[in-house]
Amino acid sequence: MTALTPIRFAETDIEQIAGHAGRVAVFLDPEGRMDAGARRVNKLTRGALARLVEAEKFAKSKPGDTMSLAFPTGMAAVAVDVVHMVRRPTVAETRKAGASLAKLRGQADLLVLAAGMRRTADMAFGLAMRDYSFDDHKTDAQQRKGEVVVMCAKPDQAQAAAMPLMAVAEGAFMTRDLTNAPANILTTTTFAEELAAMTALGLKVEVLDEDQLEELGMRTLLSVGQGSDSPSKVVVMEWNGGAKGDAPLALIGKGVVFDTGGISLKPGAGMEDMTMDMGGAGVVAGTMRALARRKAAANVVGLVGLVENMPSGNAIRPGDVITSMKGDTVEVINTDAEGRLVLCDVMWYAQERFKPVGMIDLATLTGAIIVGLGHENAGVFSNNDAFCNAFLKAAEAEGEGAWRMPLGQAYDDLLKSRIADMKNVGGRAAGSVTAAQFLQRFVKPETPWIHLDIAGVASVKTDTALAPKGATGWGVAALSRLILDHYEKV
Ligand code: BES
Ligand code: MN
Ligand code: ZN
Repeated sequence: MTALTPIRFAETDIEQIAGHAGRVAVFLDPEGRMDAGARRVNKLTRGALARLVEAEKFAKSKPGDTMSLAFPTGMAAVAVDVVHMVRRPTVAETRKAGASLAKLRGQADLLVLAAGMRRTADMAFGLAMRDYSFDDHKTDAQQRKGEVVVMCAKPDQAQAAAMPLMAVAEGAFMTRDLTNAPANILTTTTFAEELAAMTALGLKVEVLDEDQLEELGMRTLLSVGQGSDSPSKVVVMEWNGGAKGDAPLALIGKGVVFDTGGISLKPGAGMEDMTMDMGGAGVVAGTMRALARRKAAANVVGLVGLVENMPSGNAIRPGDVITSMKGDTVEVINTDAEGRLVLCDVMWYAQERFKPVGMIDLATLTGAIIVGLGHENAGVFSNNDAFCNAFLKAAEAEGEGAWRMPLGQAYDDLLKSRIADMKNVGGRAAGSVTAAQFLQRFVKPETPWIHLDIAGVASVKTDTALAPKGATGWGVAALSRLILDHYEKV
């Protein structure tokens, strides 16, 4: 797994600044107010920071922008990185400031002078989140990365505040690694192995194989995987940090390790992107990791359906009718609408086995959600306003875009089938909503439920605030916060 940058917090020791051989970072607000560290840098460089504050370039810069002074005289550093900060930054602005340092850093040792900063842990979180690159398959990848030291006011406090945040970052890194991984490397089998390895963190992990899934009657899930040489699996991950006997929150993930479309084959252009079609399962895995790492005081169970959607002599065909674990029959109109066939059985199983207090499923489910919301927001569908609002609030607090979408009988009607209980597609109109309606048919009325369509946000082609292009890890922070705010009794 891609390792998190270790970040150490220390007392501000101005004597060490002149001799630091890597990069040195300082924060300046628009008035150019300097904390102890910045004053020291300014003195060593004979007023370079003060002159920079006067310069037009600084006046025109926006909060979060950076300017670098290369090879400053009077210091051993290769560069001083100046981050433009507003005087009272929000959490998001503080995280972004940290992220901008990660972008500049490369492999260098970094000394961050943050004596005047209030939320040092959030700055460090932003730095850690952005200091990611997926190098598993780069043969020339640099092995050693320099260390990061943050000199700040109360290092022990900052360290303690950073602990749960770094747990989230580690979870997000796992999500990114899984989501970025190509399908010949991350098969259903290796995926299950990666999850099973999390027992070392105190999670209970169970891998259900095809015989067991057959026994349980998960025919719709199995039908998706039947054209692939990789065996379908369901993995159950339990974190029991809450009171014994309390019903858990259930997280369900779509884990299609590759989606060719099956017999309803996708066009060739861009098909390589479908390595990320297990993104929902990736978020569930990363969230479970974060919960274990920060020893969350809650009971949460994560279930992922791992399959590969391939065309072959035994693949499901358009027109096939499959019986789900619930017992409802599905007429498969389009084998490319496979995610819902996987999720419906896992969701039903989760409710039957765990009677969860709530259920959240995550899936790269529809291209239509990208048409609707682009890459800024995940689509949020729910049968419960309070539950939904709690999630939206958590997502907003973490800077993860989420936008509620409608559900309703008229949409559900579009799934009517002539020969079975339902079709697996509802036609071109409102494609993301009819997909959600399909899922809702497998939600018991008493289960508060949220469906997150993350097709647009799980992996993106441009850098975002806290992630380089590629898999983002969207959702790990929001879910961890939701659990912290609503399920942990402390
Ligand atoms: N995995 C895709 C959805 C997707 C598309 C994710 C683009 C990420 C980027 C899903 O399985 C799919 O193929 N959905 C179809 C549904 C249609 C056949 C009703 C779609 O969106 O075209
Ligand atoms: Mn598909
Ligand atoms: Zn898919």
